[in-house]
Amino acid sequence: MPTPAAPPRRYLVRTFGCQMNVHDSERLAGLFEAEGMVAAHGVEDADVVIFNTCCIRENADNRLYGNLGQLRALKQQRPGLQIAVGGCLAQKDRDKVMERAPWVDAVFGTHNVGHAATLLERARREGPVVEILEAAANAADEFPSALPVRRELPFAAWVTVQVGCDNKCAFCIVPSVRGREMSRPFSEVVAEVAQLAARGTVEVTLLGQNVNSYGRDLALKARASDDWRAHAYMTGEQWAAAGAPRARPLFADLLRAVAAVEGIERVRFTSPHPKDLRPETIEAMATEKAVCPHLHFPLQSGSDRVLSLMRRGYTAQRYLERLAAARAAVPDLAVTTDIIVGFPGEDEADFERTLEVAAEAEYDSAYTFIYSPRPGTEAAARTQEFVPPEVVADRFERLRLVVERSALRRHQARVGLTEEVLVEGPAKKGGPGVFSGRTRQNKLVHLDGGPLRAGMVVEAVVERAAPHFLKARLGRVISPPRHRELIPVMAN
Ligand code: SAH
Ligand code: SF4
Ligand code: F3S
Repeated sequence: MPTPAAPPRRYLVRTFGCQMNVHDSERLAGLFEAEGMVAAHGVEDADVVIFNTCCIRENADNRLYGNLGQLRALKQQRPGLQIAVGGCLAQKDRDKVMERAPWVDAVFGTHNVGHAATLLERARREGPVVEILEAAANAADEFPSALPVRRELPFAAWVTVQVGCDNKCAFCIVPSVRGREMSRPFSEVVAEVAQLAARGTVEVTLLGQNVNSYGRDLALKARASDDWRAHAYMTGEQWAAAGAPRARPLFADLLRAVAAVEGIERVRFTSPHPKDLRPETIEAMATEKAVCPHLHFPLQSGSDRVLSLMRRGYTAQRYLERLAAARAAVPDLAVTTDIIVGFPGEDEADFERTLEVAAEAEYDSAYTFIYSPRPGTEAAARTQEFVPPEVVADRFERLRLVVERSALRRHQARVGLTEEVLVEGPAKKGGPGVFSGRTRQNKLVHLDGGPLRAGMVVEAVVERAAPHFLKARLGRVISPPRHRELIPVMAN
């Protein structure tokens, strides 16, 4: 009699941080599925738990080590359980992860996501392993998009267009944990989007730390090669051709190429750095129907003195001018932002400028952060100028009120309008028959009038507004879901 096959091992990926990490986690899931593993429901039934970490703020560290502490007892009961820690915090802490949590089996960083499964396998044979690289070991690791991917949502997808960051914002740890800025070859991005569209994905979000500088490095790389095909692959054929208008594509060109892919109805991107937002990008947003009217435009501070200390490369006035240009060109543009409160040396007058600029910008929503010193960054050394926590807490609350006021006002202005909504699934709250989705402006909508299916595009009439969501009544169905059910797939 044949022996029954062992049940497949189960993996669980816990993600912290930004969309980059969310997408890296999709690659981790894809890798483990390619190894024959299946997703676990929770820690209880997992054979492997992977933490994909973030270190943008301090509490991320505490949370990770707290979580690892909880898993220690579980591992004592189930010695077969493997724990891996990867991502930005692992890249920063390196051997320290293992020192603080010696029950961890494998530690990997941001340049070797694709090695996670092999490292865990090695750990099974040889004991704990740490592998942190300074940069990707080869071209395939450079853009982990080439790895298998198990996408969280079949109808909407993250697409990496750029990794790393060459800026030196004084508060930010990202450049030190994500490495130098590198653009993904133009043709590769467009090909991935075309493949996604062929499987029925209708929305893509292009990801990079500073998407507007997309392509800067591609021209240099392309020039170093005399092979036309290699050049065309890097920059897209149009820019490799003799007599091309430019030596390299701009981000605006990439936006247009992606928007032109048949079946792609919604194109989003994050984040454009205000210092690099070019008129061409605004123009592409205004003229390409598929590009959504939403701009995430990180302000960080409204004070020119603080912006200069932060090394952001723009003034408040410049920021507001660019925003006004975007608003003038793109009808019905929603604008969101990131703002840091309590940057070292921020005084009351600086903060009041932030309030003024935030009020003038009339944000649809804002991620507001309390400044958190990050080891090795320029601002972290200025300990003499740290703002007392009680002052920061007070400012944070005042800023929250300003942002909520404009958010509510902008949401209220939508009551009575008909919005196009991409349905994501049943709402977390609100009971049966209530579904959630996103408008083209990326606003969260709770819809009455189901049943609906994830991936449907519908019309909905906005009935009520809150600062963080809209409530709407279902109108007609514009299109049914187009995606096929998810199976692990190769992105390339
Ligand atoms: N590349 C993006 C930002 C990525 S980090 C950009 O430049 O727009 C996301 C956000 O985290 C930043 O916009 C900033 O507001 C916040 N952030 C980064 N470092 C921080 C720190 N040390 N303390 C508090 N917030 C921080
Ligand atoms: Fe950090 Fe600035 Fe780069 Fe954004 S642009 S990732 S804030 S250094
Ligand atoms: Fe993102 Fe956090 Fe890393 S914000 S790039 S996961 S440090």
